Amino acid sequence: MHMYLVQFMILFLPRHVAVDAIRSSVPEIDLSATGGITDGSTRYIVADCGGGTVDVTVHELTRARNLHELHKASGGTWGSMGVDCQFEQLLTNIFGEKFIHYFVKSYPTSWLELINTFEAKKCSFCPSKQVAVSLPLPFSLIQSFMDQTGTSVRTAVLEYEREGVQWTSQGMLRLSPSTMMELFEPTVHAIVQHIQEILQVPSIKKIEYLFLVGGFAESPILQNAIQDAFRSLFRVVIPQDVSLTILKGAVMFGHDPTVVHIRRSLFTYGVACLNRFIPGKHPKELKITREYCDWCSGVFDAFVYADQAISLGYTVTRSYTVAEGSRQSTIINLYASEDEVVQYINDPGCVKVGHLEFGFPYDLKKSAESREIVLSMVFGETEISAKAMDCISGQTTSASFNFLTK
Ligand SMILES: Nc1ncnc2c1ncn2[C@@H]1O[C@H](COP(=O)(O)OP(=O)(O)OP(=O)(O)O)[C@@H](O)[C@H]1O
Ligand SMILES: [Mg+2]
Repeated sequence: MHMYLVQFMILFLPRHVAVDAIRSSVPEIDLSATGGITDGSTRYIVADCGGGTVDVTVHELTRARNLHELHKASGGTWGSMGVDCQFEQLLTNIFGEKFIHYFVKSYPTSWLELINTFEAKKCSFCPSKQVAVSLPLPFSLIQSFMDQTGTSVRTAVLEYEREGVQWTSQGMLRLSPSTMMELFEPTVHAIVQHIQEILQVPSIKKIEYLFLVGGFAESPILQNAIQDAFRSLFRVVIPQDVSLTILKGAVMFGHDPTVVHIRRSLFTYGVACLNRFIPGKHPKELKITREYCDWCSGVFDAFVYADQAISLGYTVTRSYTVAEGSRQSTIINLYASEDEVVQYINDPGCVKVGHLEFGFPYDLKKSAESREIVLSMVFGETEISAKAMDCISGQTTSASFNFLTK
């Protein structure tokens, strides 16, 4: 979606001044302390552990901040569903393959319900709490087991004779914490082994971080196993409330991703732009006419919202078309407000906090082309840096703004 910038001025700023200032204020990772490679690049593993698969990639970020993929291994089928499969195997061991086969075919909905119940218990299972997991079995299972085998479910569980598997007086299947651990074991083991195999690849050396991501990464059992296996080799980072993009941004900015902290934006930030005027929607007093069209001026286009969690390197990129592309320069104003929702730059509480001035090298006066600008806002530690690129000339201009403090 393109919106139209409203402000124009003829002013030039020396280019890249702001960006250089930011870079020099960013501490580089201490290579000797982190065991980094001497050419200044940083290597890390991303292990994305999902429901079905585990995808492991190895990335290298060069000093010039180019990202290379050193290794990509996708599709290992050791996702969290492997734990469900172990549970199914346990049911088969207790009730017999023939009956489970019959039950799945005859009562598919009840079967699914049982597996879903187990999945929920699996996700909330925490080994350190040492709490047994109790599962209600569907009535259809209890009933049809009796019909098919002439034995009660209770008897089958008793005859299975495993300490960690019991039938409770409330009619539930109870799995001890160690039984739950055993259900996780083959899947977790396969993941650890797979990462170990990747580390054997000769070209994969000197890894500094492992980012454990994906739904299964929330499991304390998987987290502990990965930490135990690899903490002596590199730092294991399990992002909580931090996206992988932000961690990559931290590595890219030379920050230690293990200490990346989330800050909340105190203000809603945005730029002013023009929207096509829609009668009834836009206030009449904001209507202006340019290039034979009616526009609503001063529309606030938000980049981040007050109280939004943002972190180092968080980037918002938008593209705009400059109204009156024949102008040789333009100015983009940045506005801020304590309110989360801001519609127009003249809303109460909305103030101008900075501007980005932007000169064009040549005149498009005779051309019918519209001028497109790509605007990126990068959120740093205490400042926002903005970069605008003129899509026709490729020229970029940068500026930075300090975050407002209350
Ligand atoms: N605490 C937990 N313990 C075990 N498994 C968990 C936990 N939390 C979430 N999961 C599992 O993570 C899975 C969802 O993760 P995610 O969204 O990464 O999967 P996905 O991307 O859909 O799968 P895939 O990458 O295999 O296509 C679900 O199968 C869920 O059971
Ligand atoms: Mg996935």
